Amino acid sequence: MNIIPLPKEFTESSGVYLIDGKIKSDFRLDLLDDFAVFSDDASFVIEKDSSVPEEGYKLSVTPERLTVKASTKTGAYYALQSVRRLCGFDLGNREVPCCEIEDEPRFKWRGLHLDESRHFFGEKEVKRLLDFMFAEKLNTFHWHLTDDQGWRVEIKKYPLLTEIGSKRAYTQVGGWGSDKIEALEHGGYYTQQQIAEIVEYAAERGITVVPEIDFPAHCAAAIAAYPYIACFETKTEVPGYFGGLIPEKQGNYRWNRTLCCGKETTFEFVFGVLDELCSLFPSRYIHIGGDEAPSGEWKLCKDCQRVIKENGLKNEEQLQGWFENRLIAYLRDKGKTPIGWNEIIRAENLDNANNSVAIQYWTPKRDTFAENYAQKGGTMILSNHQSFYFDMPYAMMPLCNTYNYFPKNYGINNADAKNVLGVEGELWSEWIPDRAKLDLSAFPRMQALAEVAWTPEDRRDFDSFKRRLDELKPTLKKLGIGYAEDCISLNDDKKLKDEILEKFSCGDPCLEVKLNKN
Ligand code: ACM
Ligand code: ZN
Repeated sequence: MNIIPLPKEFTESSGVYLIDGKIKSDFRLDLLDDFAVFSDDASFVIEKDSSVPEEGYKLSVTPERLTVKASTKTGAYYALQSVRRLCGFDLGNREVPCCEIEDEPRFKWRGLHLDESRHFFGEKEVKRLLDFMFAEKLNTFHWHLTDDQGWRVEIKKYPLLTEIGSKRAYTQVGGWGSDKIEALEHGGYYTQQQIAEIVEYAAERGITVVPEIDFPAHCAAAIAAYPYIACFETKTEVPGYFGGLIPEKQGNYRWNRTLCCGKETTFEFVFGVLDELCSLFPSRYIHIGGDEAPSGEWKLCKDCQRVIKENGLKNEEQLQGWFENRLIAYLRDKGKTPIGWNEIIRAENLDNANNSVAIQYWTPKRDTFAENYAQKGGTMILSNHQSFYFDMPYAMMPLCNTYNYFPKNYGINNADAKNVLGVEGELWSEWIPDRAKLDLSAFPRMQALAEVAWTPEDRRDFDSFKRRLDELKPTLKKLGIGYAEDCISLNDDKKLKDEILEKFSCGDPCLEVKLNKN
């Protein structure tokens, strides 16, 4: 069966059904809620069937008739995406091979993340990515809208966040270990109107947009705009370096500065931002970051130290826990569930009662706190670095790492339980400056992710996947995708791999784009 992600159940038979003239090119029908669609000759049928699982579908193809059954519009759309792939529609083919499919997803969170802080891609690129997510039956777009290097969402109460925080005057180049900085200005942000349009565009494709806004760290751009939210009201710029070997600057907290967790004015600011975000995004989940928070400024701040003392907190880690608890409570009152990176559950005092916070497990090192949390029924999203950090070069993180992701290898033995929401691929954009690198990083990892997210684990087989991927490549090419031909991970050229890795950390982080044979 020539389809990614591979369906749950299927049988193939001989013969074809010809769909010529019955379907639009992007395979979205404007289905009504009580959908029932018949082609003029009644051979193309979409029926509502409430016994079909949410997002699932049944597809029956005979030479005479193509029938789709689904209980939701998304399920019906997914059936059509399967038809699109089965016949090679984008290549101009219209013959759907006869088959019977009964399909439904393994995970309800099938996510892709995009960091637009480090590099801003804009509406057109985002919509293009959403189109491909839809084709792969991915349903959650995790939109990383703020970080140290740029604030990308209009907040009406705090206009300086975009006026000042969306622009940086220079950019680190050459990879993580490089100390080279160029006078490359970078900027851009989304108005609330544009955000609303993208949220709607996504919804039409069965995709929920989950915004991420980072507190109390990874918010130097916000501090550049409103210095009073930090412990010390020193004016700092929107940093143009991403980390790495610039110790004297980090020592001055010019990179990854933190909010002050002690001042009430910080909370007023954070809640003001969250208010607008919650109205902009209908998603149940709001990501509040929480990773990689240095405690340096908190240790020196009289307000932070006062809060530690007044609340009997043991240390700065618990100060962060106390800070997160206030955000969790605030969002819970608004009917939202916050998500935090797995660092936040290290704080013993974190209030995660009643699953009030979802944890996203990302760290390159195994985290027993995260693993225990999931094992005990805590809500969890899995995006382990070794499999799902799509910004890493293939020389370090070959395609099979994504495809062969098994939650049990990370201590999650109950992955199919309800609390494990699913999996997500991350597109951090420090070293993704343009579409060519974006495409190379995301494709075909997105296809591998889709199969991990959708297909039953015991049906997954990397050789079968590679064959189906080869069949998909002409379609990707036709649609203008600069996917990774993947020679590096599939063949074993150690010398080349070493060179790519060396240059990724210092020299040329985009070398794989230049080497790509596609
Ligand atoms: C992360 O990559 N710091 C979540
Ligand atoms: Zn402080």
